[in-house]
Amino acid sequence: MPSIETEKKSPPMPAVIMLTALLLVVLLTCVPYLVSIALAEGPATAAASPIFGVTIPAGYKQWELIAPAEEGAPLNELRAVVGNQTAIDAYQDGKLPFPDGTSLVKRAWKRTQSPDFASATIPGAATTVQVMVKDSKKYAATGGWGFGRFINGKPVDEAQHRTCFACHEAHAKDHDYVFTRLAP
Ligand code: HEC
Repeated sequence: MPSIETEKKSPPMPAVIMLTALLLVVLLTCVPYLVSIALAEGPATAAASPIFGVTIPAGYKQWELIAPAEEGAPLNELRAVVGNQTAIDAYQDGKLPFPDGTSLVKRAWKRTQSPDFASATIPGAATTVQVMVKDSKKYAATGGWGFGRFINGKPVDEAQHRTCFACHEAHAKDHDYVFTRLAP
């Protein structure tokens, strides 16, 4: 029987102590690291928008650019609309409506004068992160899109979320409720 074989060959005590110590060291090294990852990712993914339950997608800062935008007074913002791979593929193939699984994120910053060059404008403090997620069944009542607006990682109130679809529907209905076109 293999179990008896292994029992006979069980390592001597110092080896057991060594192994236990090694295991402890590994655990003690890994746990704080894992906790720090959980804390760092936590706020970005945890808070869901009212009505839609949309969260900030993990890794959106690495997503590909669809187009930049600029918003005049009073907001004075620089913006960048980015998308996940499903979004980028749909844009490149000119596919409408966008398929389920499409995620669009609009990043925004205060429009700020460069301290280094008079005519240059640079992103200042981040203002909002806005998200649109396509799920044609779940969000059938709002053109298949779920919406989320976040400030400092926290969703804004329900009243603001009631305005999203109305404006997108009024002005971008012929482009699946999405304003942004792929920048040339
Ligand atoms: C009064 C009109 C208006 C309202 C209300 C509005 N949006 Fe938009 N949204 C726009 C415009 C215009 C753009 C195009 C990009 C730009 O100019 O910033 C846009 C772009 C976006 C984009 C990028 C994809 C696209 O359609 O171009 C997302 C994501 C987005 N909005 C989310 C939201 C969310 C979430 C809300 C509600 C909390 C919201 N929007 C409310 C006008 C509006």
